[in-house]
Amino acid sequence: MKKSTLVLTSFAAALGLVSCSANTAKVAPAIPADPAIEAAVEAKLAEMTLEEKVGQMTEVAIDILGHWENGEFVLDQDKLDNAIGKYKVGSVLNTPVVGQTPEKWQEIIGKIQEVSMNELGIPCVYGLDQNHGASYVMGATYLPQNINVGASFNPQVAYDAGVITAYESRAANCPWTYSPTVDLSRDPRWPRVWENYGEDPLVNAIQGSAAVRGMQGEDPNHVGPNNIAVSVKHYLGYGNPRTGKDRTPAYIPEYELKEKNFAPFKACVEAGALTIMVNSASVNGIPVHANKELLTGWLKEGLNWDGMIVTDWADINNLYTREGVAVDKKHAIELAINAGIDMTMEPYDLNFTTLLIELVNEGRVSMERIDDAARRVLRLKYRLGLFDNPNTLLADYPKFGGEEFAQMATRAAEETEILLKNTNGILPLAKGQKILVTGPNANSMRCLNGGWSYSWQGHMADSFTEQYNTIYEAICNKFGASNVVLEQGVTYVPQGAYDEENAPEIEKAVAAAKKVDVIVACIGENSYCETPGNLSDLALSENQRNLVKALAKTGKPIVLILNEGRPRIISDIEPLADGIIDILLPSNYGGDALANILAGDANPSAKLPYTYPRHQAALTTYDYKVSEETDTMQGAYDYNAVVSVQWPFGFGLSYTTFEYSNFQCSAQEFGADTDLVFTVDVKNTGEVAGKEVVMLYSRDMVASMVPENRRLRAYEKVEIQPGETVTVTLKIKGSDLASVNPQGEWTLEPGDFRMQAGNQTLMITCK
Ligand code: BGC
Repeated sequence: MKKSTLVLTSFAAALGLVSCSANTAKVAPAIPADPAIEAAVEAKLAEMTLEEKVGQMTEVAIDILGHWENGEFVLDQDKLDNAIGKYKVGSVLNTPVVGQTPEKWQEIIGKIQEVSMNELGIPCVYGLDQNHGASYVMGATYLPQNINVGASFNPQVAYDAGVITAYESRAANCPWTYSPTVDLSRDPRWPRVWENYGEDPLVNAIQGSAAVRGMQGEDPNHVGPNNIAVSVKHYLGYGNPRTGKDRTPAYIPEYELKEKNFAPFKACVEAGALTIMVNSASVNGIPVHANKELLTGWLKEGLNWDGMIVTDWADINNLYTREGVAVDKKHAIELAINAGIDMTMEPYDLNFTTLLIELVNEGRVSMERIDDAARRVLRLKYRLGLFDNPNTLLADYPKFGGEEFAQMATRAAEETEILLKNTNGILPLAKGQKILVTGPNANSMRCLNGGWSYSWQGHMADSFTEQYNTIYEAICNKFGASNVVLEQGVTYVPQGAYDEENAPEIEKAVAAAKKVDVIVACIGENSYCETPGNLSDLALSENQRNLVKALAKTGKPIVLILNEGRPRIISDIEPLADGIIDILLPSNYGGDALANILAGDANPSAKLPYTYPRHQAALTTYDYKVSEETDTMQGAYDYNAVVSVQWPFGFGLSYTTFEYSNFQCSAQEFGADTDLVFTVDVKNTGEVAGKEVVMLYSRDMVASMVPENRRLRAYEKVEIQPGETVTVTLKIKGSDLASVNPQGEWTLEPGDFRMQAGNQTLMITCK
């Protein structure tokens, strides 16, 4: 059927996604202003000098404020006086090399606040990458990394992780985190796949906005003492670098930027996100740090958002040192501030302030822009309550690192480990068997945690995690140490680069395998973060694949445990395994969670948050265009294009089975404002209780833009008892099925949409 296009002017305006200027007035403020806070901000701003305003826009790294003495970081009064007294710096970030105890953080941040209040009468806002729990605080409760939280398909997991992160950050006197990350991991080569919630916009939107509410609480104007400000990152289009390498250019069509990449940021802003961090790289040839349309247009004006935009690490400098769009630092500052940057993560160069003041005096940056930026920084500090209470007290946080949070972290980890294969009922493992635990990931807390754990690269984690269990230790605890043998066969270089392996000792593992009943092979990647995690071969390391191949020759059944930040190709060894669990990066309680799953004490319920590739040259996402898949054509132009993946997005098994029936929709025909209520009956047809993620997909049958194979529109995780049937309700609006057309407009085109839940489908029609 040929469709005529209905352009959704008001709907598009509500999304803030059409050309910003025309629609600003129509969009309600993302965060309704609090009159008392606004009055305080204006009063403070009125008494500030240009130097003070520019200082508020400056963030430096802790490293330039102190030095190391007897293994301890010490702040220097003269450096504080210089940065805060002379240059009037308003923000400090980062940990000195490794995480610090909460007591030490109390001391460091307390001292900075004292100098700030004395010198400026304005509190400092201290920021840390508390990316999976308060992960720069020693003794804090580490939660599974975000890719796991995505795999849980349970917003409660994201929310609870946020609550714990915020509480334990405040215990350490830190009010601001650079989290959550909601880039879309659409390229499996990218070393930051694990930092966000997977490849899908909706999953990033739902899990990310739940994390925002968990961390910030429900009232962004009054962030309480148990909550912290978030910085949603990295805006926009960071997860699709053409080369697969970190911080390299992305080329993303505008319709996709609007429809997909923007969606999670919009959801997080609507959940009250107070700050946003910018993508370090360029999109479509323009560095995002210099892109006024994306920063000021789409974000601030389009969403009518009064929050603060912070750069990523040294990214104003990168405009001239790396990107080549500015002649020098001063030019770079001019471009970035005029594009809409409010705070620069410098992080070492106080000359930023001098150059920005010069730019204002020369008329190259307006005073209005400076006021706007300083106002946004001050507003953040008032909303955080820092003017009244610049510090928290550790004694007010008795739950820090305690049993309650440990239990929550273990349950969370169980919900995030994905059962991908289970033939011959190998799992749960029968009791009393002799088990070989092998592979480089078998006995390492570093591997379980990944990056942003105690240090940036996570490479020192094993020194700080004595009290937690590796996979091997957890299996010993669960199955009895006398039943478990450890012989790794392949090992990583301790504290080395993520891909450094020692000379393999595969024959030792093979010899050990001959004496056991079952092999648990723990393979994957060692920890890494950002650029040091770049790769040029997506296949799992050859040593590790050789290990599995050699073990398979013993004829003993193999359970593969994948412990990796991104999906490494394993198509040659997958057929050799009876059981496969992808635990991703489940952190400090992930070994215990896995042992519970292996023993059948926990029933896996996670699903793949990305497409797991089978071949190096066949990388795709689940929402590919229908025309990417064609049948083989005969004749001179004999070719085919078949989407062949190892496991699809959304795939994951359970120890029970579920049957779907009776899929219905409240309306057969709909328009943009129609409430579409879908119901489907889901029966647990197995023997044990289990949780099922019920997903609602749509397929636009004919569209002016080549339609996608399918799009996730809603999901709900439900627990169902054996034999029980639950009716699951999934609600969307007709307008949720809109898309961006070739002209860049949001449209809802008349015609048929096929909707799917489990194996059930039905057709609805847009009139
Ligand atoms: C990363 C950010 C991080 C920042 C501060 C950058 O290198 O890209 O994700 O928040 O450093 O540590």
